[in-house]
Amino acid sequence: MKILITAGPTIEPIDKVRFISNYSTGKMGYCIAEAARKKDHKVTLISGPTNLKKPKKVKFISIKTARELQQAVKKEFKKNDCLIMTAAVSDFRPLKIFKGKIKKEKQSPKSLKLAKNPDILVEIGKNKGNKILVGFALEDKNTIANAKKKLRQKNLDFIVANSVAEKSPFGDVRTSAVIIDKFGKIQRLRNTTKEKIAETIVNKIRHCERPRTK
Ligand code: CTP
Repeated sequence: MKILITAGPTIEPIDKVRFISNYSTGKMGYCIAEAARKKDHKVTLISGPTNLKKPKKVKFISIKTARELQQAVKKEFKKNDCLIMTAAVSDFRPLKIFKGKIKKEKQSPKSLKLAKNPDILVEIGKNKGNKILVGFALEDKNTIANAKKKLRQKNLDFIVANSVAEKSPFGDVRTSAVIIDKFGKIQRLRNTTKEKIAETIVNKIRHCERPRTK
């Protein structure tokens, strides 16, 4: 299969030297790219800024903002059978990007006006055809209920839910995840590695309804 994976954070510039972002390291997406490549899938990885090494034998596209990610996903989705969205997309961006560097004495802003970024998975989910869509959910409470809601809203085949309630799932850590599929089946992966979660996801994709693209 041809598998498109997004990874890492998006960053949203405030001025020439500052941005809004999140703690995503990209580890989960890069592990999935590696696991998929090992199973001989053709992999495209779209990544926000990370400190990770580019995986070998993978088409690699670098993005910074949510809107750049949106454009790249739209373009690449057509050429792939499956999209796995691990990217931690910034839901908001500064409404205006200040030209140059904001000086604290003269220009110190009292507040930052934000604009909402597009929900990439919702958009893709509206026209997914027979392709496979996999999302992630990061929750601090009501993990299962919220993940189920995202699964439906974004028209996903399955969703991988992580909780930030007890332990941070960011970076190279052992973590837990719950996979919920569109038929309501729940699979719990407890205190495991991201490599193992990645393998489970790649195996699960093989058992989804097969897309018919050439
Ligand atoms: N996602 C997306 N576009 C966004 C935000 C999220 O495509 N603007 C994707 C993420 O890549 C992930 C899934 O949607 O696969 C859920 O992301 P998450 O951050 O858990 O939830 P949100 O939809 O942003 O909702 P909330 O922040 O309110 O929990």
